[in-house]
Amino acid sequence: MLSYIIEGGKKLEGEVHISGSKNASLPIIAATMLNKGISKLYNVPEIHDTKMMFEILKKLGCTVKKNNKKIIIDSSKAEGYKIPEELMRQMRSSVVLAGAILGRHKKAEFSYPGGCDIGARPIDLHLKSFEKLGILISENYGNISCKCDTIDNAKIDLDFPSVGATENIMLASTLGEGTTIITNAAREPEIIDLQNFLNRMGAQISGAGTNIIQIKGVKKLKDVSYNIMPDRIEAGTYLCAGAITGGKIKITNIVSEHLTPIINKLEEAGCSLNVQKDNIELIAPKRVKAVDLKTMPYPGFPTDMQSVFVSLLTTAKGTSIVVENIFENRYKFVPELSRMGAKITVEGKAAIIKGVRKIHAANVKATDLRGGAALVLEALVAKGETKIENIQYILRGYEKLDDKLKKLGAKISIKEGE
Ligand code: UD1
Repeated sequence: MLSYIIEGGKKLEGEVHISGSKNASLPIIAATMLNKGISKLYNVPEIHDTKMMFEILKKLGCTVKKNNKKIIIDSSKAEGYKIPEELMRQMRSSVVLAGAILGRHKKAEFSYPGGCDIGARPIDLHLKSFEKLGILISENYGNISCKCDTIDNAKIDLDFPSVGATENIMLASTLGEGTTIITNAAREPEIIDLQNFLNRMGAQISGAGTNIIQIKGVKKLKDVSYNIMPDRIEAGTYLCAGAITGGKIKITNIVSEHLTPIINKLEEAGCSLNVQKDNIELIAPKRVKAVDLKTMPYPGFPTDMQSVFVSLLTTAKGTSIVVENIFENRYKFVPELSRMGAKITVEGKAAIIKGVRKIHAANVKATDLRGGAALVLEALVAKGETKIENIQYILRGYEKLDDKLKKLGAKISIKEGE
């Protein structure tokens, strides 16, 4: 069991290099299954979730090698089509492998995915979309078998712009027959990154970034070299860490356009930001102002930044209202923040945060990836030494969080054992 020990009260100052995007890497790693050849990936973050994805690929017959900052995946002999249940359980995003495996083998077997407990997270939209593509689905005690002779073309109107379902349709249809059109598609930048990767591989996809995506099936793909986009959620987390500590930080290797809703809220909270195309400098006030926000699909405020923002607002001047519209169970970290002196009331989708002047250290437990990051931010301003247990959740999505925070002047270490 690993814990972070953080002594709060240090203003963060300096520069932090943002890693490659977790949520772009996972579907792109899955997509390498589509080509019977070599994919070279750059800027893949070294985090638990990408390691798990590589483990699954290896089980399916791929070889995965690391050469400096480059990951080389050879999927020429990837004959496997069953995603091992124990690995699927550990990571919800492994569900995008289903689309890639189906695209390649026209059959796939997997179970219901696991991952962070932030809500029911069904996969009905994925399965309904597969059926529209002519795939037969049978379910047996939570195990799902899919098969078809060909991936048909279809017009798929998603009930909700699900990121994972949009990606799964793109992956399954890349080698399909005719042209598939997705309407009410998710518009997240990670979908554009997946489109760019697939097209570099020889796919014919257009429209990613808008709510209509067209996938014209191709017969064959080719070897590819690709640089993963920067992680906009990691970037937002460091901006908030700078803001909560009253610090002055610069984040580099980013696409600032992806951060617009986060930048807007930080400015509203009284931070001063110098926004360039690929870097942002933030100067925080002594104490931020209360702001209201609601999470929405992109280009709205990202649900993955909700918990970190709640943490920031616990020390704001005034009362903030945050509304979570994407996941119904995304306030599990709130009781942990309350143990540190935060004043938060949750009523259904809304969290009402009454800003306080002082936060104190406590022993707390991470409950999920982003909720865990919220505890780290709170610990950075708390008086005294905070112990955060269950940091395996945080390690799923943040590369070298302790090293990066140390470089910014934080006092943080990792402790093993109880
Ligand atoms: C992805 C991100 C996650 C982010 C989320 C929303 C990855 C690896 N993960 O997750 O970090 O928080 O987008 O931006 O990219 N839903 C259904 N049925 C389905 C699929 C989804 O009801 O078949 C619901 C979900 O329960 C949720 C909402 O749709 O309420 C959004 O989910 P979705 O966009 O699919 O999120 P993920 O792709 O799982």
